Amino acid sequence: MKRRRLKKILLAFLALFVLIQFIPVNRSVPDFDATHDFLTSMHAPPAIAKSIQSSCYDCHSYTTRYPWYGYVAPVSWFLNKHIHEGREHLNFSTLSSQKKKRVLHAMEEAHEEVLEGGMPLRGYTLMHKDARLSQAEREEMAEWFEKTYISLGGDPNELEEEGEHEEHEH
Ligand code: HEC
Repeated sequence: MKRRRLKKILLAFLALFVLIQFIPVNRSVPDFDATHDFLTSMHAPPAIAKSIQSSCYDCHSYTTRYPWYGYVAPVSWFLNKHIHEGREHLNFSTLSSQKKKRVLHAMEEAHEEVLEGGMPLRGYTLMHKDARLSQAEREEMAEWFEKTYISLGGDPNELEEEGEHEEHEH
């Protein structure tokens, strides 16, 4: 009797799992001009560009590479949510056509997130070894965000405050 009930429950779960695969997940991106990519237009050094692409682009650009489990619900729902949220905050595919103030803010935030270890998201680096950053890579990447921020006319004092803040924490 008990076993039959268990079997029924398992079958119900299986049916549910199969059914949710039919709920559409929007992986499409709007038309965008790949030649306006931020790293390209800012002439990022190849090593930095490669590092940002492999650590950030899946969530912060229109050139997302979906892993196989990105097609399996319900994982695909959470993954897609992260991608859409990530792009809302920062999208390297469209950043170069954004207002300067927005670009400066993005560079400031990116500098901070990378130095403090907030980005790339931890769950993501568990599954993506190539997205993991060493301390040296973090510093190099943060330095490039800082350089870009300053070259676009950002106030370096704003970034320095974060540096001081960091020292207090350690
Ligand atoms: C797995 C997806 C994912 C990856 C990979 C990722 N991010 Fe994010 N990022 C997000 C999400 C989701 C948010 C918005 C929610 C949050 O702040 O946690 C975000 C927010 C941000 C913000 C805005 C923070 C703020 O407070 O405004 C910056 C800047 C950022 N990410 C930079 C980066 C950089 C730089 C990398 C690569 C080193 C990176 N992210 C990698 C998903 C990701």
